[in-house]
Order: sequence, then structure tokens, then C-alpha cells
Amino acid sequence: MAGEHRLLALKAFDGTKAGVKGLVDAGITAVPSIFHHQPDHRHRHFTVPVIDLSSMSSRRAAVVAQVKAAAETVGFFQVVNHGVPEGAMSAMVAAVRSFNEEPVEAKAPYYTRDRGRRVRYQSNVDLFTSPAAQWRDTLFMEMPAEPQELPAACRGVAPEYAGLVRERLGRTLLGLLSEALGLRRGYLEEEQGCLEGVSVAGHYYPACPEPELTLGTIGHSDTTFFTVLLQDAVGGLQVLVEDDEDRKQSAWADVPPAAGALVVNVGDFLQLMSNDRFKSVEHRVVANSVGPRVSVACFFRPAGAASSTRVLAPIVPDGDGGSARYRSTTMEELIQQHYRLKGQRGTSLLDHFRL
Ligand code: OGA
Ligand code: NI
Repeated sequence: MAGEHRLLALKAFDGTKAGVKGLVDAGITAVPSIFHHQPDHRHRHFTVPVIDLSSMSSRRAAVVAQVKAAAETVGFFQVVNHGVPEGAMSAMVAAVRSFNEEPVEAKAPYYTRDRGRRVRYQSNVDLFTSPAAQWRDTLFMEMPAEPQELPAACRGVAPEYAGLVRERLGRTLLGLLSEALGLRRGYLEEEQGCLEGVSVAGHYYPACPEPELTLGTIGHSDTTFFTVLLQDAVGGLQVLVEDDEDRKQSAWADVPPAAGALVVNVGDFLQLMSNDRFKSVEHRVVANSVGPRVSVACFFRPAGAASSTRVLAPIVPDGDGGSARYRSTTMEELIQQHYRLKGQRGTSLLDHFRL
């Protein structure tokens, strides 16, 4: 579609404030061309490791080794017996679903692209920068949010869920990741502030009439220290499994829903801080004729990251002969570059800081 025509179509879609859900409710049977993606069917089987955290007190070294192996290779793992109650997980998924299924008039006041607002409902965070629009609507909530800032459907549930993920799982994971880097347990939390902020993105992927033409979420890595993702039973999340020997063999592998599990992935900040020992890996969500699919991502990054002067620098272990692979930077600069590079294909945020 020609640039100008496409921009008008995007603006018209955005102006409805009704999201992809609005298109589906209007009964469309074909995916509009603004949502058309280049097909990428590279697929392979790969099992993302499932790590049982219940054995942590008796077998800590073994759990650290599992976390280390996953963080250094595929960058993704699932955790079970993680301490976040299943009731809080299902309540969170239900809250995101019920918000998205409210009438347009109820949701429209939250619809905004103003990054200064802590609570934002929008279809496609990157609508105007991504090569093609994606089959998904998102309610983004930066925590802590004032109760009156949050839509009623999420008011009680979202802060409670975010708090549980942070206190019961986030802290534990940072302890394990610190030890996996050969550092003391409290290092990433206390010295690096990795537990300082969490934001919650509630994603809603409506059923799609022509799923092969579009994507739910385009391939990306996360601009976080790490992300904890809750997905319902529909499925569609895929991770890019790289083949170091032969790059052409890299392909998308399913991260299938597992009852009670949470998906954890390393983000760009941790890849930089770990000096490439940990991998922030690309992932995406395919569209599906079955739906809606609901997922909830907890992004661990400092509150007000966009103006944070916190310095990020690679941690290089003494005496291993290695040297820093990135220049040090601030959170503010990272976030600015992230937005600047968005939409520029083939340039990754980390490449920009690589020495
Ligand atoms: C994200 C993300 C995956 C999903 O929010 O960054 O990758 O399953 N979400 O919704
Ligand atoms: Ni992601």
C-alpha cells in the first residue's frame, strides 16, 4: 500500500479507539491490508526448559545451573511452583479479558498514545512505526498506579497481581540470575535496581479470520531487565531459536501454554549488563483463528525509566580475560534509542551500544 494511503488507513483505524476487537465485532471476514505481514514460516521443534522452583531450598545449586543454562542459550524458560497463586493468575487474565470486552465508550477514555500517561489502552503500541499492524490490543499499566487511574475491571486485580509477581517471583529470579552470573544473591536487586519498577501489559488477541496473513505480535526483544509472561491456554507465543553453526537454520519454536506456569525471558538490559552472557532473544505471537487469546506481561524496568539517570554497564568478571562488549549508558538513553530505532528494520537496540 502506498505510504500516504497507508498512513490514512492507520489513522482511521486508530481514530476508532475500538482496536482490533472493534474490527472483529463489526464482523469483518478479511484482514485489512494494514495488517498484512511478510510470511515467515521457519518453524522448528524445541522445548523451552521448565524449571521447578519448589526444590530451590534443597537443590539451589541445581536450580541456579538450570536458570544459567536457559539464560545463556534460548533466553527463555518456564517456571512452575513459583509462588504466584493460580487464583491471582486467573483473576488477572479474566480482568484483562473483561476490560477488552467492555463497550467502546467505556474503553475509549483510556485510549491514548501519550507516553506520559501511566495507564494506556491502545491497539499496537508501535502502530505508526511497525512495518505492519498486529492483531492485538493492549492495556498498559505502569505500577504503582493510583486506583482511580486504572479501569474498574483491573483496579483491584492488577496491582495485587503485579505485587505478587514482584515479591514472590521477581526477587527469587533476580537471586538466581545473580548467582548464575557468579555474583552474590542480592546483587541485581540491591546494586543494580532490577526490581525497582514493574509495568503490566494486558494483551488481547481477538480471533482472526485470516491468521496466516498477519501476526499477533511481530518479532521483537524486550526492553527490560527481564519479563514474566502469563499466557492463557490458546497458545501462539514463539521464540527464535538460533543455530550458531548455521544462522540460516534459525527458526521459530512454540512456547506452549503449560498449566500454572509462567514464562520468563531475559530482556535487553540484562543482556547488556551480563556482557552477552545472557541472551535477550526475539519472540513473536502468531495470529490464530481461535480466540480471544489473553496474555499478561510483567516488564521489569525502573519506574520512570524514560528519565532515569541510572547507569547500565557490562559486568565483566575479573581475570577471565574478557573485556566489556558494550559502552555504559543510562536508562534514559536506552529508552530514547529504543523509540528512535523502532521501525528501522535490521537495527537492534543493543547493536547501538556495542563496542
Ligand atoms: C510482550 C510479549 C507475548 C505474548 O508483551 O513483550 O512478547 O504472548 N508478549 O503476548
Ligand atoms: Ni516481548
